[in-house]
Amino acid sequence: MPSQNQQLHHKLLPFALCLALSLCAICLFAPIEPFFSIQQLRMSTLASVLSSYFLFYFWILKRHHRFHQSSHQAKLDLASMHQEQVLIVFASQTGYAEQLATQTHNSLQQGGMQTQLCDISQLSAEILQQAHKVLFLVSTTGEGDAPDSAAKFARDIMGQTIKFPQLHYAILALGDRNYQAFCAFGHQLDHCLHQQGAQTLFDIVEVDNGDDGALRHWQHHLGVLSGHTDLADWHQAEYEIWTLTERHLLNAGSQGNPAYQLRLTPPKDSIWQAGDIAEILPRHPDVDRTLPHREYSIASIPQDGAVELIVRQMQQADGSLGLGSGWLTHYAGIGESIQLRLRSNRSFHPPTSDCPLILIGNGTGIAGLRAHLKQREHEHKQKRTQNIPTQNWLFFGERNHAHDYFCQSEIEQWVANNNLSKLDLAFSRDQAQGCYVQDKLREQATELRAWVQQGAAIYVCGSLEGMAGGVDQALSEILGEGEVERMREEGLYRRDVY
Ligand SMILES: Cc1cc2nc3c(=O)[nH]c(=O)nc-3n(C[C@H](O)[C@H](O)[C@H](O)COP(=O)(O)OP(=O)(O)OC[C@H]3O[C@@H](n4cnc5c(N)ncnc54)[C@H](O)[C@@H]3O)c2cc1C
Ligand SMILES: Cc1cc2nc3c(=O)[nH]c(=O)nc-3n(C[C@H](O)[C@H](O)[C@H](O)COP(=O)(O)O)c2cc1C
Repeated sequence: MPSQNQQLHHKLLPFALCLALSLCAICLFAPIEPFFSIQQLRMSTLASVLSSYFLFYFWILKRHHRFHQSSHQAKLDLASMHQEQVLIVFASQTGYAEQLATQTHNSLQQGGMQTQLCDISQLSAEILQQAHKVLFLVSTTGEGDAPDSAAKFARDIMGQTIKFPQLHYAILALGDRNYQAFCAFGHQLDHCLHQQGAQTLFDIVEVDNGDDGALRHWQHHLGVLSGHTDLADWHQAEYEIWTLTERHLLNAGSQGNPAYQLRLTPPKDSIWQAGDIAEILPRHPDVDRTLPHREYSIASIPQDGAVELIVRQMQQADGSLGLGSGWLTHYAGIGESIQLRLRSNRSFHPPTSDCPLILIGNGTGIAGLRAHLKQREHEHKQKRTQNIPTQNWLFFGERNHAHDYFCQSEIEQWVANNNLSKLDLAFSRDQAQGCYVQDKLREQATELRAWVQQGAAIYVCGSLEGMAGGVDQALSEILGEGEVERMREEGLYRRDVY
């Protein structure tokens, strides 16, 4: 298709030519005696009209040439593509995904990363085979359809059996829950890239109608990806003032960084569900500017009267404390005001039915799983069916049993009162050869398959690196890839991993 510039060029040239010829005709035949020598006037006018025409023509040519130069620059520079460069790809119908892709591009560049930005229509299998890190920002249109610009990509790449084993990707899926096929194209793309052997940098982020919380979540991932977790949030949110009322160390003597359990009381009655996230706005005694938010899985339910968090104290390379965890575990004193807001996290909400629940996590991931176990216990008590055991199975992993068995007394209490019907613990440093939750899953393969056959849901919470991928792999081996995919699509396999 000709570009807008080319179309302008084609329309203007005949017009300019007609104008020039008409002027020439007027000059040659109009009765302009006795004011000037006819010959003189006619010849000089003719010369100036023709030279204006040619000047105009050369101006158009130059513009055309410049346009072609810049469109060439906008093309993907394959030669400069290397392992650390991030390709940011957008598929947009009405422009929002493109706008967010540009913001993503700017944020990563501020974070010192090398990036290239491109429309999905520019992508080919060859480019994806060279790329190592790709961020897709894609919307869904029609009734669960891909944007028009993605048609070629959908036909030539998504529909083919090409492999991209070197590719690491993440997807920001834009959509609207009022439509039946929510974020359908984002999910199709995710499914397809997974089938083609690509690996996720982090889980798909769904944006319901421009939801700010989801966009802040995306920015959190961009911060971790670029190693610049102090970049300002795109949009400042409103926070409430909560109070830090308790904090105690969970892993005295641990080989790992200290992890704390915190209790934060709300300014007024607050409602949330198991799976939801607390966003906090950190402060630092030596920093005046507004810092970016941090996210923490809520470890309690509203019936506890407070939000409880389990926070690992992180450190920067120079030994200074992480912005969010340093604020919550060190700088903020007991009784201190904490700016906090609750974010609904639908993708990790409890299952809709009373199905058996398999909970898998490591380290601070126990936070999100604890909220689910509390909610199950609460619902069970409400139904007054305590004599029928609930089917909850916990897999928890950490370093040493002696120091890192987070929430031990509570977990043992749940085993005793049948809120936990099965418990598997993996302490990796208690024996010469590491043992992780994924190893425990393999040991329990037969029982696990039986639970899934009874309709169990699987919830995973904790670290993305090491744990989440290992668990995914083990589940695929035990249940089969197709079954894992079915569970994911039916909302029976959910993850809150970071
Ligand atoms: C959905 C979600 C739930 C979360 N739940 C919890 C939770 O329950 N408990 C908890 O302790 N944390 C949780 N986190 C992580 C938390 O949001 C912060 O990333 C973490 O506390 C580090 O932030 P910081 O400001 O203290 O460190 P920063 O100042 O951001 O960084 C300090 C150092 O830690 C590294 N770092 C920062 N974030 C990560 C990361 N995610 N993985 C690896 N290295 C990192 C940085 O590169 C740097 O070296 C969750 C994150 C998400 C997205
Ligand atoms: C005509 C139309 C159809 C849409 N269909 C869907 C849909 O099927 N599923 C969905 O999740 N969102 C749907 N949406 C919502 C868009 O995905 C959402 O508004 C998105 O932010 C648009 O991003 P874009 O401007 O980059 O195209 C639709 C929007 C429009 C205008």
